[in-house]
Amino acid sequence: MLPAYVPNPIAALCGGGTPIDGGKMYKDGRRFFGDGKTWRGLFAGIMAGIAIGALQIWAYGAYDLSMLPKQTLLSVALLSVGALLGDLAKSFFKRRLGKERGAKWPIADQYDLVAGAFLLLLVFNPAWLFSEVTLPAFICILILTPLLHRITNIIGYALKVKEVPW
Ligand code: CTP
Ligand code: MG
Repeated sequence: MLPAYVPNPIAALCGGGTPIDGGKMYKDGRRFFGDGKTWRGLFAGIMAGIAIGALQIWAYGAYDLSMLPKQTLLSVALLSVGALLGDLAKSFFKRRLGKERGAKWPIADQYDLVAGAFLLLLVFNPAWLFSEVTLPAFICILILTPLLHRITNIIGYALKVKEVPW
């Protein structure tokens, strides 16, 4: 899951500048995504996710890590891109509910990246998904994700990278 976990904090670290929606409003008069979704955050996050995945692919070949899932360039790209597309889709629906940028939206805020990453895998690489992600692994992901999300956001808040600790 590293290629899916790394993009969000890197987006928070590197984000800013032109928002993906270019400031445009949806027909409900609210922003498409809002100022919290920027091109720089998107690209930096995806690149960081792919970089960590490339490291995993290298390490898999260099050390005996055969007990771990075997990443491929495709799985890494889908995990990384999916994580931030899930985050982006979450923000779209968040704005439709009238929640401002940075507002709390429990469950959705924590699982958006898992939903996005797994949806992309399901569509573009189901063979990898079903062979490498076992049911116990999936259950671990569901338990660990909100914990990691909370911890990284508290750290991000303490480092003044994030405006809110969630
Ligand atoms: N970020 C970014 N581009 C992205 C995703 C995130 O620039 N595609 C940066 C923004 O600075 C954002 C921060 O990372 O404020 C934290 O991300 P997140 O919590 O997902 O955004 P929020 O500001 O909470 O916005 P939203 O309410 O839409 O989730
Ligand atoms: Mg947020």
